[in-house]
Amino acid sequence: MKENYKSKPHESAVGHVSGKAIYTDDQRLPSGMLYLWPVLSPYAKAKILNIDTANLNNIPGFVTLLTADDIPGINNTGSIKHDEVLLPQTEINYWGQPVVWVVAETERAAQTVAETLKIEYEPLTPILTIQDGIKNQSFHGDKNIMRRGNPIKALQESDFILTGNIEIQGQDHFYLETQVAWVIPNLEDGYQVYSSTQHPSETQAIISEVLGIPRNQIVVTCLRMGGGFGGKETQANPTAAIAALAAYKTGCPARVRLKRDQDMITTGKRHPFLAQYQVGFNSEGQLLALDIDLYSDGGWSVDLSFPILQRAMFHIDNCYYIPNLEVRGQVVKTNKVSNTAFRGFGGPQGMVIIEEIIDQIARKLSLPPETIRERNFYRGEGETNTTHYGQEIFDNRILRVWEEVKIKSNFDNRKQEIFEFNQNHDYQKRGLAITPVKFGISFTKTEYNQAGALILIYQDGSIQLNHGGTEMGQGLQTKMLQVASQALGVNIKRFRIMPTSTDKVPNTSATAASSGSDLNGQAVKNACETLKQRLAEVAAKLLNFNDAKELIFEEDWVYCKSYPRYKIAFEEVVKQAYNQRVSLSATGYYRTPNIYYDPKIGKGRPFYYYSYGAAVSEVEIDGFTGTFKLRQVDIVQDVGESLNPLIDIGQIEGGFVQGMGWLTMEELVWDEQGRLKTFAPSTYKIPTIKEIPKSFNVHLLKRAAQDGVIYGSKAVGEPPFMLAISVREAIRDAIAAWGNSDSISLASPATPEAILNAIEQVQLKSENAL
Ligand code: MTE
Ligand code: MOS
Repeated sequence: MKENYKSKPHESAVGHVSGKAIYTDDQRLPSGMLYLWPVLSPYAKAKILNIDTANLNNIPGFVTLLTADDIPGINNTGSIKHDEVLLPQTEINYWGQPVVWVVAETERAAQTVAETLKIEYEPLTPILTIQDGIKNQSFHGDKNIMRRGNPIKALQESDFILTGNIEIQGQDHFYLETQVAWVIPNLEDGYQVYSSTQHPSETQAIISEVLGIPRNQIVVTCLRMGGGFGGKETQANPTAAIAALAAYKTGCPARVRLKRDQDMITTGKRHPFLAQYQVGFNSEGQLLALDIDLYSDGGWSVDLSFPILQRAMFHIDNCYYIPNLEVRGQVVKTNKVSNTAFRGFGGPQGMVIIEEIIDQIARKLSLPPETIRERNFYRGEGETNTTHYGQEIFDNRILRVWEEVKIKSNFDNRKQEIFEFNQNHDYQKRGLAITPVKFGISFTKTEYNQAGALILIYQDGSIQLNHGGTEMGQGLQTKMLQVASQALGVNIKRFRIMPTSTDKVPNTSATAASSGSDLNGQAVKNACETLKQRLAEVAAKLLNFNDAKELIFEEDWVYCKSYPRYKIAFEEVVKQAYNQRVSLSATGYYRTPNIYYDPKIGKGRPFYYYSYGAAVSEVEIDGFTGTFKLRQVDIVQDVGESLNPLIDIGQIEGGFVQGMGWLTMEELVWDEQGRLKTFAPSTYKIPTIKEIPKSFNVHLLKRAAQDGVIYGSKAVGEPPFMLAISVREAIRDAIAAWGNSDSISLASPATPEAILNAIEQVQLKSENAL
């Protein structure tokens, strides 16, 4: 992208800080709006015996109840599998499951009715953990396998073998704006839905199924989200569907907005994982074989669990060539919320696991972990640069980002300084770690890799820009405005970006997999090119020029390179085009070329390209409290030729801090009955400004343009999340300084308690060794 189009501030920056940016719930609401409130199940598994509706009519403002019997269509909100009831008929499957919804004239009245309503249950024994699920053979779907070489044989031939288990916990999305939707019946037979959804087309499809009416009767519009992070990819659907059901049943507009506790209790989170592995290596630390089982906690319904597990399996190698590898994955069915997409989509879990394995190898061999990492990088050509699923890594940039961040962070010198610091401090220890990221870009479901746009030019030269992506704070709209402005060669101020709506661009994909700007950017550019071609014909005539293709559109002017003095204003061309009856609106379309994957054999080229990054983190642990301070972070991230460095750096910082929260402080606690205990910010701690590292240096890889992607840019939304693994590994490194143990087990998240436990274990092992 040309310099003058770059580094624009976020298009809603002023709106965000002044409060003028409108979110779904801030809209001027129509009169007669009804409000909904859920009645949540007090059991994780139970049978519904009776719902006592007597006396409800005496409560002022009460309108109606919504139960399974009210659904005219299909009682399902599941996207991949139809296993997710919107309202339970008889069976309760997790603690906090909405059993019925109350509809009333005010939110307060709806709440009062919900609290009055008596439901009788027969409690049953729930399955609450991955281990419990495995023991009871409680699974969603079959085992998924990816394999290269012969790991069993290679393990037998390895000089060293390590076996272990790794457990990783979930994460609540904690978007600032909770799930919200409102629906207004309109135009006799239709429904206008305003939903905070990352996937308006799917929300439309689910509502159409629930109401049993075709999709063309439903318009789903998303203005912008107050954060999504994957938590509104599918999980926005039930909220929108129940609001639509209320509108359908009552004929009135209806609104749902979840309170923070309701949101945290009822919506799915990042999948917890359990890994059981055997790894074989030689005395140099070279990986020879990995045999590994991954189990994820899918919760009560499938949701997106299969592709999330698959992405974990695709990323179990991170940046390392493992000649013999078998990874088996299975989704465990538990009586918990239905776990879902969350930034990285399984990738983070896969990478945390392999990075811990690498660390175990390093300590076993008394070699620095970074040495083991370096020795195992994909490099060269052919087999040693090909993943276990058969994709050759073209344009491998692992070593580039790695070497660059090592130099920028002064890694080697600091390692020495930290060693000396630790020698001289008994109760404070510092740790330093460097970890890489290679993240595959594309939806692994091939058909999702398409996008559309619709551009409308009006006679005064002002333009409306529509595309299929949604804005959740990541800056997609800003980037789309930049792309359109460059592609049409006109000032960005000419454009008004329109809310994402299924009546403008149909059949869209979720804004997810970090591919929002890759896909929609190409579709926007495509629409601009169509319009430009038409306008060029008009301009050529006006300029008495016979080759329309030679014309240049730049800064609101149209001219020919060889005669730049003869130029015509964009607005004039538009006016003439109208007069000459040339169409001033166009759609754009894009599909990612050259990707495929065959899940039956576990081979293919699922990713259009990879994003690379590397991070160095330094921590200091206080041995009395188990708390740590993040002293310095240096990052080099490959975002290609950035569309907008300001926004990209913001994405890298935000993603990193969110990843650090997952790995070090955000702790979800369920009790023995499967009740979530941490459903408010008082008990569930997300990082704040205080946790941001004192010295936080983000560098974008230079000379990094990526062929075949919009203006040479690369995806940035998710990959930096996984750079936070360097914080976990730096904590491990600091803990190691308390003794001389050949393995450091550290629970995730690395809370003060987990850190103190780990220190104690290291000290015990060291004493025993004496
Ligand atoms: N940034 C902000 N501010 N808010 C968000 O909700 N979601 C992340 C990432 N960055 C998110 C965000 C996730 S999970 C994804 S997949 C991408 O943004 C989606 O947007 P993109 O494809 O346009 O990058
Ligand atoms: Mo992002 S988890 O792909 O919405």
